[in-house]
Amino acid sequence: MRRPRPVPVSWLVGLITVVLLAGCADTSPAPDVDDARLIAADSDDENWLTYGRTYKEQRHSPLTEVSEETVGRLGLAWYYDMGTKRGLEGTPLVVEGVLYVTGAWSVMHAFDAATGERLWTHDPQVPRGHSRFVCCDVVNRGQAFYRGQVYAGTLDGRLVSVTAEGGDLVWESQTTPVGEAYSITGAPRIAGGKVLIGSGGAEYGVRGYVSAYDAATGELSWRVYTVPGNPADGFESDAMAAAAETWSGEWWEAGGGGTAWDAIVYDPELDLVYIGVGNGSPWYRQLRSPGGGDNLYLSSILAVRASDGEYVWHFQTTPGDNWDYTATQPLMLAELEIDGRERRVIMQAPKNGFFYVIDRETGEFLSGEAFADINWATGLTPEGRPIENPDARALEGGVHVAPGPTGAHNWHPMSFNPETGLVYFPVQEHSWLHVVDDEWEYDRRVLNIAGDFAYTGPTTGEAWTPRGHLVAWDPVTQSEAWRVEQPHPLSGGTLSTAGNLVFQGRPDGVFRAYRATDGEVLWEFQHETGILAAPITYSVDGTQYVAVLSGYGGPEVLFNLPGLAGGSVGPGRLLVFALGENASLPEPMPPLPPIEAPTFELAATEAEVEQGSLLYLNTCLGCHGFAAVSGGIVPDLRRSTAETHAIFEQIVLGGAREPLGMPRFDDVLDSEDVRLIQAYVLRRALESAGGN
Ligand code: HEC
Repeated sequence: MRRPRPVPVSWLVGLITVVLLAGCADTSPAPDVDDARLIAADSDDENWLTYGRTYKEQRHSPLTEVSEETVGRLGLAWYYDMGTKRGLEGTPLVVEGVLYVTGAWSVMHAFDAATGERLWTHDPQVPRGHSRFVCCDVVNRGQAFYRGQVYAGTLDGRLVSVTAEGGDLVWESQTTPVGEAYSITGAPRIAGGKVLIGSGGAEYGVRGYVSAYDAATGELSWRVYTVPGNPADGFESDAMAAAAETWSGEWWEAGGGGTAWDAIVYDPELDLVYIGVGNGSPWYRQLRSPGGGDNLYLSSILAVRASDGEYVWHFQTTPGDNWDYTATQPLMLAELEIDGRERRVIMQAPKNGFFYVIDRETGEFLSGEAFADINWATGLTPEGRPIENPDARALEGGVHVAPGPTGAHNWHPMSFNPETGLVYFPVQEHSWLHVVDDEWEYDRRVLNIAGDFAYTGPTTGEAWTPRGHLVAWDPVTQSEAWRVEQPHPLSGGTLSTAGNLVFQGRPDGVFRAYRATDGEVLWEFQHETGILAAPITYSVDGTQYVAVLSGYGGPEVLFNLPGLAGGSVGPGRLLVFALGENASLPEPMPPLPPIEAPTFELAATEAEVEQGSLLYLNTCLGCHGFAAVSGGIVPDLRRSTAETHAIFEQIVLGGAREPLGMPRFDDVLDSEDVRLIQAYVLRRALESAGGN
């Protein structure tokens, strides 16, 4: 297999640069959300103070104006055009009538929550080229609010604090080594005066960690790694030394992975922080840790002390992960009665397809059950360890493993209604053909999955047709209370309300309210752009609102979803609903015309087109989609004009479209490589002519 030739690049190794740009705390008279208020957030029904609404992250609102009786009168109150359809996965915050939300490229916005008037925008000016080091688009999932300041992570690894009043920068801290392939897409959390932030990048070969910064000054307070580094450098803690016992070979060369790109939950009762830890780098254990082993703390829930980051306990959901089964999915805290005893639990439905209930004081496994059809494991032992299907690691010949790497459940937030006792979340059922690329060599400039995407040989097992549903899961009985089949494998995050409702969006733009007790559809709104972000609800002057972002981000760019494949995608919008409202939206975008046969000429042999397809898989697929069929968010290259083809090389190597979000690849590709990719793209255009 032809692969990109290495070109030496001087990586800046700047570590933590804390830039104190302005005064510290109390810079604005904006609402004072302090520790006491965050702890009492559940009774603060008007506001949505933190990512998961409260420290328990149950995403359940006590508001009842919008209820199963009244929801039929829910209508659009206002909307805001986000100026992009990319990267929109954010959960807004609402504090005293102001709504704060993040969009693509980590841009922060504030609105009057009742009228939709935009109050300010803070653009952290993320260098567009950094999008090359992001597996799943230029996403940002949310912010934290504390003492008059709003905090967000940026795609290029900064933690930013701005005033709630005007969006003015207070401080900014580089949380990742400059020039390395880390990225931040998750929301920061507040824990006793500190701001917690993780990062992503495991596919590019980084080492995961979580940092805590002083909320007022931006100074680093503690940092905890999730996987061990090179033993020759000494271990940072006993926990790292213990973890290293479960690895083999020279795992640190490719970083190890284990990034904490989403769930980080603070528990003020126990002074613990629970970290959802991601997959290994590379995906396949036989390459990452050739002697086997569990590879702690990959795919684990890791509990550390909030005050100093010291290890307390861990629970590993997928020992020796081999399939990108991250445990970064949303973590939720609750009190459940189990076997007649009230337990303080943490719940998670990670990618691997099992729903876990864990004692959050000790990390003890209480129960777990598969919530999706899966084939990689047949069940869990009494200790919660998966009973693996031996075929699932027999990767040499190619094996279909379910769920695939986007998981049986991904980042889409789940909600819990304490009245019904049910957890609501979207489930995806699908498989993926895993084949180890035994020619894999670590290269920190490209994806390091180490899978052979171009494999065409014999395979074990069958590919599954992807499908999805919304589930209401009873965590006590570990069983499904109800489900609603969805037309697409992916569907959105959920919101639960005391009005006996569950709100959820879909990639075809349908936004629905279901009855929480039985899943009956009570209300529906059709938007032209898909909705996968989680809705929130809040109230201003006695009126209850429901808000949600439309637009895509994350793995959706890769999926040729029905109705989206190669087609147009309308604008991303913040949509806000209230009873009796009926604001109108502009006319939807017309569908795209059929693809035309390309007029640009480029001579290439069959073998060259094949080489071009492999280069495309390695470098372009992540944004422009499988087989050059775009998910509709970045351009479908089969539709590129002859004028664009004439400057193809300037676009790919010269950065001609870099300001518009198309990174340059001159460090991994040369002119000849680009010609081969172009030949492949033109072939795909010819094959697709007349269709979509
Ligand atoms: C990180 C995401 C990302 C990756 C990876 C990526 N692109 Fe792009 N590309 C974009 C975006 C965003 C645009 C749209 C820029 C604009 O608005 O004109 C774009 C535009 C283009 C265009 C112009 C299309 C047109 O019709 O206007 C070409 C050609 C292109 N990319 C080729 C490539 C090739 C070849 C690769 C692989 C070597 C690649 N891209 C990898 C994000 C990406």
